[in-house]
Amino acid sequence: MDQGDTPRRFRDSECAEILRGLEAPQKRLPSKYFYDERGSELFDQICELPEYYVTRTERAIMQAHAAEMASVLGDDVRLIEFGSGSSVKTRLLLDRLDHAAYVPVDISGEHLHKTAQALSERYPALDIQPLVADFTAPLQLPEAGDAARRNAVYFPGSTLGNFEPAPAIALLRNIRALAGNRGGLLLGADLQKDIGELEAAYDDTAGVTAAFNLNLLTRLNREFGANFAVDAFRHQARYNSEHGRIEMHLVAQRAQDFTIFGQRFSMRAGETLHTENSYKYTLDSLAELARASGFETLRTWTDPAQRFAVQWWRSRSAAQRLAA
Ligand code: AVJ
Repeated sequence: MDQGDTPRRFRDSECAEILRGLEAPQKRLPSKYFYDERGSELFDQICELPEYYVTRTERAIMQAHAAEMASVLGDDVRLIEFGSGSSVKTRLLLDRLDHAAYVPVDISGEHLHKTAQALSERYPALDIQPLVADFTAPLQLPEAGDAARRNAVYFPGSTLGNFEPAPAIALLRNIRALAGNRGGLLLGADLQKDIGELEAAYDDTAGVTAAFNLNLLTRLNREFGANFAVDAFRHQARYNSEHGRIEMHLVAQRAQDFTIFGQRFSMRAGETLHTENSYKYTLDSLAELARASGFETLRTWTDPAQRFAVQWWRSRSAAQRLAA
């Protein structure tokens, strides 16, 4: 995750992506910019909220089934984690794997460096190969002289849910390419459930999620030289049942203009900026995604209320796919 205090240079492609979103009939902003320093702090607070069942449910599933997960991953595996952050859940796996290599992948070099340092103290025998990269683009794995290892990607936290179906499949196909014919994907995915429960998880009574959503505008003002009137927007979370996703929006409380990259935009009162999608899956839709990206769902671990699923997707070889 980016550090909010360090001025960063945005690439032309990032600016173009932001402008494209704002020029659309339904204005949108990319959710990846939530995570500056303040945003990452607020997200950590979200994870502890009573309404936000996601983190604690996934953690409980991992705690209950880490031994089985480690055994499907197998000793000697090279575990590649997407968006590793501080690798908290991963330790449950690393505790149970022998002779593993670990490739934490994160966009923030600083975060990654700290995590790798802490892990190497705790797991002196673990071969740690940190990779600073944006995992939404195809990755080049570090050349580590152990190319014979089986690769498994670990993609927890329902981060996949932020991707619309086509980009999700593109990302999963990149993962399939990394996993090779003998590997697989350990995926954490949030499941569809009661709408009231979903909406509460994204609109908590303490207002932390609202602050998280609004912080996006504060960041754009600071780092992109935008001039959003942050006070003139209100947080909204709504479930879109047609698409099976929670949407977060920022609702303009009055007609207003703003400027970003020298471009001026107008908003009507009540018009929204769509800031995030969080797709919710069913076991069937996950199986469908797996097939579409060259995997098969071999194992599913879930909690008693079926709020969340952790799944092991094994690579299907070209031969298996042709035979099917
Ligand atoms: C980090 C993408 C899994 O979608 O639940 C939490 C982000 N947004 N509350 C999610 C988020 C609002 C979160 N993910």
